Amino acid sequence: MRRAPFQCAALQASTRARNLFQVTILAAFWLSTASAQSIEQRIDGLLQKMTLEEKLGQMSQSTSMAAPISEQIKQQIRAGRWGSFLNAGNAADRAEAQRIATKETRLGIPLIFGRDVIHGYHTIFPIPLGQAASWDADLIREAAREAALEATAEGIAWTFAPMIDIARDPRWGRVAESLGEDPYVTSVLGSAMVQGFQGESLDRADSLAACAKHYVGYGAAEGGRDYNSAWIPEILLRDVYLRPFHAARDAGVATFMTAFNTLNAVPATGNRFLLNDILRGEWKFDGLVVSDYNAVSELVAHGYAVDARDAARKALLAGVDMEMVSTTYFDHLKSLLEADQVTMGEIDAAVRNILRLKFRLGLFDGRHPAADRPEADALATAERLATESVVLLKNNRGALPLKKTIGKVAVIGPLADSPADQMGTWSMDGDVSGVRTPLRALREMLGGNRVAYAPGLKSSGDQSTAGFAEALRAARESDAVLLFLGESANMSGEARSRAFLDLPGAQEQLVERLATSGKPLIAVIMAGRPLTFHRAAEKFDAILYAWHPGTMGGPAIAQLLFGESVPSGKLTVTFPRAVGQVPIYYAHLSTGRPPVAEDLGVPMGTPENPKDYTSRYIDLDFTPEYPFGYGLSYTTFRYSATRLSAASLGSSGSLSASAEVTNAGARDADEVVQLYVSGPKGGSVARPVRELKGFRRVHLKSGQTKTVEFTLRRIDLAYYNDRMQFSAESGGYRAWIAPDSTRGTPAEFAVK
Ligand code: NOJ
Repeated sequence: MRRAPFQCAALQASTRARNLFQVTILAAFWLSTASAQSIEQRIDGLLQKMTLEEKLGQMSQSTSMAAPISEQIKQQIRAGRWGSFLNAGNAADRAEAQRIATKETRLGIPLIFGRDVIHGYHTIFPIPLGQAASWDADLIREAAREAALEATAEGIAWTFAPMIDIARDPRWGRVAESLGEDPYVTSVLGSAMVQGFQGESLDRADSLAACAKHYVGYGAAEGGRDYNSAWIPEILLRDVYLRPFHAARDAGVATFMTAFNTLNAVPATGNRFLLNDILRGEWKFDGLVVSDYNAVSELVAHGYAVDARDAARKALLAGVDMEMVSTTYFDHLKSLLEADQVTMGEIDAAVRNILRLKFRLGLFDGRHPAADRPEADALATAERLATESVVLLKNNRGALPLKKTIGKVAVIGPLADSPADQMGTWSMDGDVSGVRTPLRALREMLGGNRVAYAPGLKSSGDQSTAGFAEALRAARESDAVLLFLGESANMSGEARSRAFLDLPGAQEQLVERLATSGKPLIAVIMAGRPLTFHRAAEKFDAILYAWHPGTMGGPAIAQLLFGESVPSGKLTVTFPRAVGQVPIYYAHLSTGRPPVAEDLGVPMGTPENPKDYTSRYIDLDFTPEYPFGYGLSYTTFRYSATRLSAASLGSSGSLSASAEVTNAGARDADEVVQLYVSGPKGGSVARPVRELKGFRRVHLKSGQTKTVEFTLRRIDLAYYNDRMQFSAESGGYRAWIAPDSTRGTPAEFAVK
């Protein structure tokens, strides 16, 4: 009774708050509808006044804006020749070009400056594949926000990120720019990037319009060779490759970029099914679609268009609003219109999408670049993200962490002190002089006289063994060898496909030589992709996989090596044992003859006794070197069996899956807990052996236990069935709460 008045007041307050909330929502809805209406009206007004040339100008994006801007370009801007520039000029040039566009053109339509702000602008965060290994959506969102603050301060309003192509082939160089092989992780982390770039609302001066790319199938390039054809059956397309794009659309991504590749024989840039039917039709996307670089004119090389004029027609009719770099729209749409091969309505629809973005970004209303933010914020985020992205792959007998009391360490390898390589692919605006390398960080931490530096190799591809003797000397006079190996930045990224995934140059030989020192060998591998280094790995006492960790990679790695922080990254991409296993990914279907436990550990080089007819290799184990979701810690985590709140799931409802996770070791640490599901058995289609459905990064003190709980709704289990309907078919399912994709004790449930 005594609590009644309070309850009453609380109830009233909460009712008031709810009413206020509803009023606010209604007002926001009304305002957004009203502003959407007024944007459409303003676009109507402009479309009525625009000449055809001005419309085609809006549909054209150029990259040619050298600093200082040439008179010719200024003249073109005055004539309305360009709607957008990409990767062009510096902040002052952009400001001047924008002044001309808004003040000296007939209609004052602003330009939009796009740029590849992929994993940071001046401050470089780990490459996206590294960021993904943190599984930390909040931190990734924060990094994208920092990048947006830096880039918008210099007049950039649009980034060509995130790249949310599913990448299941490490030969493909752009795996570095991806978030890995899994549609769920890519959806969650890609959406976080969209939110970070775009901020609270697009019209704020520090918002960067994001771009979901490359729509779609680019990561499925045959043979892992960049730009190559992709063949993806519709069921796989919808279940895997399209999912992150749909998630990005739901996260409010402002733009999409079409892919270079053909998808099922139709180039993505001329693909009506993808752009018109799915993106605009099914998903109701009303943002801007830009082609990739020259991708419209490349329809000719694909053999899909007879010439540039045909390419312009096909791209427009498919639904590409803006043409990046090639000029087929500007050159040919006029004559196509005159010949009735395209309509003014189709051109206007594209221009409308472009102008809508410019209105949404507030470019018409004078978007003033945001004031610079303290660099310290970006650096702190970069360091945390680098720390969380590093994956401990091996740690024999607690080789790591090293003790601070250690006498001397040898720092060896081509990536110990290579700032540009440490930034990785896509870091054209990165501040190289600000990069803190491991060598520098270790010298700062231990003092210069306790660090013997001998690179051994001049660069990652160096074949010469000339520096080995000195490296071996450094190793012998030290108590541990820290070996910084991997790929240079330019070995991954666009057009950087590799047929071999080994450590390049003479790195393996360097490892062999250093192993003769008898000193503990600790490898830190920086790379843009999963590499294969099976032999070398046997020689290493511990391996930290650091990707290309960005500006603050050095301090992050030094602290991990010496236990000031604890590794917590986990792989979002499967590491093969050899290229011959590629493509290899955890969420595969079962075969009719799955390999059995006894087939595990087939030794390399003894193919003479193929015991049975199961789905495996006679010369190599069928399992990966390191599975999806894998990563060690300096502590040990124990998982209970998975528990479910109910034995079945009806058509509405949900159930919860939980497990107790205990930090059974001596160090406080983060653990990335993963939820996998499989099933149903006996549905209309075969289903993957496991699929990720949830994850959580939890912090556990030494000795602490936490119950980690996930909610599973029927929609979370849905997939495309044999009639291409999206639903969870009834039958038996399993759920695992596990430290990676190969472990955990499952629980069974039924969907009714
Ligand atoms: C080509 C790349 O495929 C794309 O991702 C990038 O955004 C554009 N070039 C612009 O640089």
